[in-house]
Amino acid sequence: MKDLNAKVSVITGAGAGLGRELAMACARRRMKLVLADVEAANLETTRTLIQQEHPGTDIATLQVDVSRFEQVAALAKLAVQRFGGVHLLFNNAGVGVTAPIWENTVADWQWVTNVNLYGVAWGVKAFTPIMLEQGEGHIVNIASAAGWMYSAGSGIYNATKAAVVALSESLANDLKMANSMVGVSVLSPAFFPTGIIESERNRPAEFADTAADSEMKRQYEERVRRAVEAGKMSAREIAEITLKGVEENRFYLFPHAWVPGAIALRSKQAQAGMTAFDPQA
Ligand SMILES: NC(=O)c1ccc[n+]([C@@H]2O[C@H](COP(=O)([O-])OP(=O)(O)OC[C@H]3O[C@@H](n4cnc5c(N)ncnc54)[C@H](O)[C@@H]3O)[C@@H](O)[C@H]2O)c1
Repeated sequence: MKDLNAKVSVITGAGAGLGRELAMACARRRMKLVLADVEAANLETTRTLIQQEHPGTDIATLQVDVSRFEQVAALAKLAVQRFGGVHLLFNNAGVGVTAPIWENTVADWQWVTNVNLYGVAWGVKAFTPIMLEQGEGHIVNIASAAGWMYSAGSGIYNATKAAVVALSESLANDLKMANSMVGVSVLSPAFFPTGIIESERNRPAEFADTAADSEMKRQYEERVRRAVEAGKMSAREIAEITLKGVEENRFYLFPHAWVPGAIALRSKQAQAGMTAFDPQA
């Protein structure tokens, strides 16, 4: 989608991190914004920051838990009622847990899958029909380098992000079969500094963390924290790369240039067929 000026952008997880920067990048292009997050106070901070940098931006906000289809459907309804349509959707909200995969609890699986996989699925389900009817639109699903290569300690996160890659390729192929003009991108960044390591702040009580605190779990948490904090590329840079990808209608978006090379290595190892690919090695 080449010209985003005055078009309507919906962003989930817009209260912090990458979602906030995607909102900023859209505001720089004079888009109208529909911002959603489970943390209402942070959404208001995003609104204030955008109004400071880009006064006059049209912004609607809604507190939404993306794991609940009816709330995502209400977000789509709000966008249409307020701005008459939706041109861009960023399925961005995401959370993570770390542990050796056999220690993850049933609640860990349910919470992370609900947000990272179902959250994206519900966005696609609620918004694609609107874009199909308009005859234009573009959906960006936020996966991760972890959707392509699977470090120890993040099994559930890896599995959900791999599923987001699969869902995105499937969506693109379905849209092609339907001869639709709706575009799709899947964003797969490596680590970058945000509050993702504090994901537990949004964990619903019904999926409370009851996992035993093992030494392996503590080590994994520390390793992921260090990797996130050490990320060299900022959320702002990644947001700008993402918007440029949308403007060029690119499907695969890899902000970190080394990631496609690592995926090629993984394919080579799959052909050899002996051991699981370990990105840490
Ligand atoms: N930071 C990284 O290293 C990294 C790397 C690759 C991919 N990603 C992906 O980028 C996306 C954004 O993450 P981030 O790094 O900005 O983290 P973040 O924690 O700073 O932001 C995530 C946002 O999602 C919101 N959120 C959480 N659960 C929600 C729910 N159920 N419904 C609605 N909103 C919810 C949070 O309140 C928060 O505002 C995620 O999909 C994440 O998996 C992050």
